[in-house]
Order: sequence, then structure tokens, then C-alpha cells
Amino acid sequence: MGNVISAFWKGVKYKGGPGHYAFILHRLTGIGVALFLVVHIMDNFVILFGEEAFTEVLHLYANPVMRLLEVFLIFSVAYHAFNGLRVIIVDFWAPNSHVQRALWILVWVVVIPITIVAAWFTLAPIFGLR
Ligand code: HEM
Ligand code: HEM
Repeated sequence: MGNVISAFWKGVKYKGGPGHYAFILHRLTGIGVALFLVVHIMDNFVILFGEEAFTEVLHLYANPVMRLLEVFLIFSVAYHAFNGLRVIIVDFWAPNSHVQRALWILVWVVVIPITIVAAWFTLAPIFGLR
């Protein structure tokens, strides 16, 4: 078991470096958003059982744990979108160059403020602040 874990971890770390970590986070956020989409289509489906049932489902999203997950969702959508643009730019116009590092920093400069603002609006009600 220990061998399997260390082999897996070696694979995850690969050669390291920002480009590789950018890719791992891109994959995790892509899979996360895709999984949410499955749940989200199902929660929309509940409208067919009537307004009351649908409203009850929507109230689940006001739960503190769900609110925290929503912040992760917004982070994931923002990171995946902006890092996706970075991947496209590097692939098409700057292959084999180091601008990918500078662009990754730019991705964070955009994504961190978006996440902070989203976290404020999403989490403040838990503390009765909004
Ligand atoms: C602004 C919208 C989006 C952009 C610009 C974008 C861009 C990209 C790019 C460029 C890749 C390839 C990455 C690579 O070659 O390393 C990718 C992969 C992927 N995307 Fe997106 N994407 C977007 C929206 C979405 C959405 C909404 C989902 C999920 C519902 C999603 C799920 C995925 C997944 C699962 C992968 C595969 C990741 C991997 O192979 O590691 N993407 N995306
Ligand atoms: C917490 C964030 C989100 C909220 C509060 C939200 C809310 C909603 C609501 C209220 C609807 C129904 C709209 C209507 O029929 O009038 C809807 C539909 C939809 N949303 Fe979202 N959404 C969120 C995130 C997302 C994300 C991240 C995606 C894509 C990955 C997405 C994809 C869709 C799709 C495809 C539909 C149409 C579903 C259907 O007709 O079955 N949503 N959303």
C-alpha cells in the first residue's frame, strides 16, 4: 500500500514547477465543475415536482457547508476559465516560452479578488453580516 501511495504521489508531483501545478489545479477544477453540473441539472429537475419542492431544494444551498462549497465552485469556475485562456494563449502564440509563468501569476491576480468578493457575499450571511 505504501508503495502504491508513494508511486501515486511521485506521479502527482512529476517534475514539479509552476506549470505542472497550474495543470493539476486546472484538471481538479475542471472535474469539480463538471461534477457540480451533474448535481445542478438534477436540482433544476426538481422544478417538475412543483414550486414548493424546488424552493426546499434551493434552501439547501443556504446551509453554511453548502455556502463554503459554493465559494470553492466560484473559485473553480474562475480559475479554470482564466487558466484555460492562459493555456490557449501559450499553446497558440507562445509555445516553449516562459511567459506561461508570468501569465499564471496574472491568473492569480484576477482569480484571488474574484474569490474574495464572492466569499464575502456568500459567507457573510452565515455571520449575520449581510
Ligand atoms: C471559460 C470557459 C473554459 C475555458 C476557457 C476552458 C479551457 C480549457 C482548456 C484550454 C483545457 C485544456 C487544458 C490543457 O490542455 O492542459 C480544458 C480542459 C478541461 N476542461 Fe475546460 N474550459 C472552460 C470551461 C469548462 C467547464 C465549464 C468545464 C466543466 C463543466 C470544463 C472542464 C474541463 C475538463 C474536465 C478538462 C480536462 C482537464 C485535464 O485534462 O486535465 N471546462 N479547459
Ligand atoms: C452557485 C452557482 C449557481 C447558481 C446559484 C445557479 C442557479 C441556476 C438556476 C436558478 C437555474 C435555473 C434557471 C432557470 O431555469 O430560469 C440554473 C440553470 C442552469 N445552470 Fe446554473 N447556477 C449556478 C452555477 C452554474 C454553473 C457553474 C454551471 C455550469 C457548469 C451552471 C449551468 C446551468 C445550466 C446548464 C442550467 C440549465 C439547466 C436545465 O435547464 O436543466 N450553473 N442555474
